[in-house]
Amino acid sequence: MEVLIIRGGKPLNGEVRVGGAKNASLPIIAASLLAPGSSSIEDVPHLNDIDTMCGVLSSLGAKVSRSPNAVAVDASDISSVEPPYELVRAMRASFLVMGPLLARTGRARISLPGGCAIGSRPIDLHLKGLAALGAEIDMGYGQIEARAARLTGARVYLDFPSVGATENIMMAAVLASGMTLVENAAEEPEVVDLANFLNSMGARVRGAGTNILRIDGVTELEPACHMVIPDRIEAGTLMVAAAMTRGSLVIDNVVDEHLKPITAKLREAGVSVEERDDGSIYVEMRQRPAGIDIKTMPYPGFPTDLQAQFMALTSISSGSSVITETVFENRFMHVSELARMGASIKIDGRAAMIEGQPGLSGAQVRCTDLRAGAALVLAGLVASGETVVSDVYHVDRGYERLEEKLARAGADIRRVTESEVEKAV
Ligand code: UD1
Repeated sequence: MEVLIIRGGKPLNGEVRVGGAKNASLPIIAASLLAPGSSSIEDVPHLNDIDTMCGVLSSLGAKVSRSPNAVAVDASDISSVEPPYELVRAMRASFLVMGPLLARTGRARISLPGGCAIGSRPIDLHLKGLAALGAEIDMGYGQIEARAARLTGARVYLDFPSVGATENIMMAAVLASGMTLVENAAEEPEVVDLANFLNSMGARVRGAGTNILRIDGVTELEPACHMVIPDRIEAGTLMVAAAMTRGSLVIDNVVDEHLKPITAKLREAGVSVEERDDGSIYVEMRQRPAGIDIKTMPYPGFPTDLQAQFMALTSISSGSSVITETVFENRFMHVSELARMGASIKIDGRAAMIEGQPGLSGAQVRCTDLRAGAALVLAGLVASGETVVSDVYHVDRGYERLEEKLARAGADIRRVTESEVEKAV
């Protein structure tokens, strides 16, 4: 097991590059199952979750190969429609192969998914959509089986604009007969990126990025090449890192539009954010951030995947802040760890009240999920003394060599094995 050791107090300066979006790469890799032949997906980050998705596709008979920043999938032969439980359990997004498998082969059998422990994460909306398209769905022994000789276009209203459900239904509907309308669809940039990939395969998806998707089914798709959009959550995390450490950072490979809710909140906190024409963003901060109130919402609202990182920021602000989590229940597991570092946070249901402190102090803390882990790293960057962040594999699910990027910008952060720490004590 590895840990990150951080000595706080170093401002971040210089330039860092954001990688391709994990949450766009995952559904796009799954979507490559829809066409026989070789698809190529570029700027895919090196992350454990991507390896899991590649493993899922290999287990289904696809030939998957990785080069430094690309994934090639030859989905000519699909020999299984049942990904192994260990892979599905490891990552909830494995469930995204349900739609493509069903559309391509007429059958899929998948265990109930796992993933980060951030509250109950049902899949009822995915199943409701697939059933509306004519899939017969059976559940039992923790397994879900869906069957349909050919799916038929239908009107699907999502009770909540779920990202995964929108993606799964879109991937199923592209090969259905007739037209599908998805109402109250998710509008996230990753959904748009998936729609663009599907359209480059020959699909006819319109309206991606709005809350109504119109999908005219086609009889077959062709493999395609695609470049994944930059990761807006990684970008947001680095922006917060620059702001918290009172540094100045050029963050390269971003889409300003995707960062609007993040930029707006940072500016409200007093951070200077400059959008540049060359696809980069410049962040500078010289004082303590002001307190801000945040409510997480589906896109274009403030992303839940940056809630924990902004909690780290507000814990050193000069005023008080309220952060309300509306997307996931039980996504405050970083609070008790931040409190161990001196943060003053009270939870009341879905709201957290944060009383900004002049500083934080280093402590031994543990990641409980991916974004909670990122928040602890950020807190460590400004805490006095040494912070040891354990269970860092959570962070590795979503950030490619985060510590290397931070260290290049001036942070004192290193990765060591737990046994090395014990020896040093
Ligand atoms: C995706 C992202 C995740 C992000 C989340 C919200 C990926 C791989 N992951 O997750 O990082 O935090 O969007 O932006 O893209 N829900 C239901 N029934 C369903 C599906 C979802 O009730 O069938 C609920 C969930 O419990 C949750 C909310 O909808 O409360 C949002 O979930 P959803 O948008 O589906 O998130 P994911 O696609 O799992």
